Amino acid sequence: MEKKRSSFSRYGFILAAAGSAIGLGNLWKFPYITWHNNGGAFVIIYLVAVIIIGWPIMMAEIIIGRRVKKNPVPAFEKLGGKKWSLVGWLGVITGLVILGYYSVIAGWTLTSFTKCLKWSFSGYVKPGEEAFTNFIGNGQLQLFLAFIFILATVLVIWRGVKKGIERTTKILMPILFCILIYLVIMVMSLPGRDETFKFLFNPDFANLPTAGILEAVGHAFFTLSLGMGAMITYGSYMDKKESIAKNAGMVVFLDTLIAICACIIMYTIIFSVPSVKEGVSGSTIGMLFITLPDLLYTHIPFGATIAPIFYILVAFAALSSTISLLEVLTSLLIDKLKWTRKKATIIAAGATYLISILCALSLGAAPFLSKWQIFGKGKEGVLNTLDHLAANWMLPVGGLFITIFVGWVLDEKICRDEVSLYNEDGSPKFTYKAFRFFIRYIAPMAILAVIVAVFAGWDFS
Ligand code: PHE
Repeated sequence: MEKKRSSFSRYGFILAAAGSAIGLGNLWKFPYITWHNNGGAFVIIYLVAVIIIGWPIMMAEIIIGRRVKKNPVPAFEKLGGKKWSLVGWLGVITGLVILGYYSVIAGWTLTSFTKCLKWSFSGYVKPGEEAFTNFIGNGQLQLFLAFIFILATVLVIWRGVKKGIERTTKILMPILFCILIYLVIMVMSLPGRDETFKFLFNPDFANLPTAGILEAVGHAFFTLSLGMGAMITYGSYMDKKESIAKNAGMVVFLDTLIAICACIIMYTIIFSVPSVKEGVSGSTIGMLFITLPDLLYTHIPFGATIAPIFYILVAFAALSSTISLLEVLTSLLIDKLKWTRKKATIIAAGATYLISILCALSLGAAPFLSKWQIFGKGKEGVLNTLDHLAANWMLPVGGLFITIFVGWVLDEKICRDEVSLYNEDGSPKFTYKAFRFFIRYIAPMAILAVIVAVFAGWDFS
């Protein structure tokens, strides 16, 4: 007999899905690319991308998941036949790839946290120039940190959907929101505040690189966890009574809000110390892991209080994302092979860790892994290559198939039934019609533009 599938309780879905969406993409990647694209105008384009592409695709994924109540592979197979299940497989593999490298970077947050804790108690010691390079080049340490992060993820997932995922995200997410609000309030008294607001909310389209438009679309996928089945999987645990449009809208809203808050916090700190402004644009990883701790301890009032809190926040955010990444593969093993949750979790984590090993050693420890490249200069090493592959190829391609499937292949009755937005006279509401229009025309065209741009050689990771 088939076991009844667990489902999230009220708010359970929103918090778990927001947990998946909010992660390193918001706290590390978004502030960096927004900086790089000169703020204001980019933020507007990003907001448009998130609303007209992100929101409908999130709804589409939830529709698929909730309808079949299964992992993306069997879900696609049931609704569209064997051929479409390949899209599910693509999603599962994408999840494996992302989790493989994501857990390595997430592991860094643990070191940043413990270091800051030490500095806060026994005084700040500025790390040497080479400190970060030595740190990422320390293979054993990288393997250990990634292992710890995956282990933490396993401990949550194997307790199940309600007791593990829902309970953990219900604790983590409110803490995360509180810390973030606290930090936003803290930085409001710094001198860089006005410049930050001007930078973020005063659009100057002449200053927007054209490539920024495509970068905004690409990032919308990554940050909202779309295009690889995470939201299909979480959708399969969503209660039938919940409104798909509202829940998806809320997740999109929270994810965007947190990304903007992260920018406000980081930029205000950076703008408050004029001498660092110029140095920031050149470093990607640097902004979160090198520049920020130094500024916090040397220039910012209460920096010693803020720093450890901030890094625990980043670690929590990353954990709620790795949970959703591992759940995609785990739920496949449970649904397809009928394994127990514990066995499925451990095997899924083991497979992921094999990829993490390659990534962890590709930052300097093993020269042949560090030099390996298929995408050319600037993308050397397994970690960078996989990040490029997932963000630029796998997510947009997966997303494109999802829009085509829900917009053009899936019986419209299923869509209507799941979204369930009717007027009193039984005609579909405006929101539903808008969703239909965006999922059939706007979203696929925008994604296609991104894929063509990637073909033409533009990198938006
Ligand atoms: N959305 C997560 C972030 O912003 C990353 C992620 C991508 C998680 C895809 C799950 C699936 O960090």
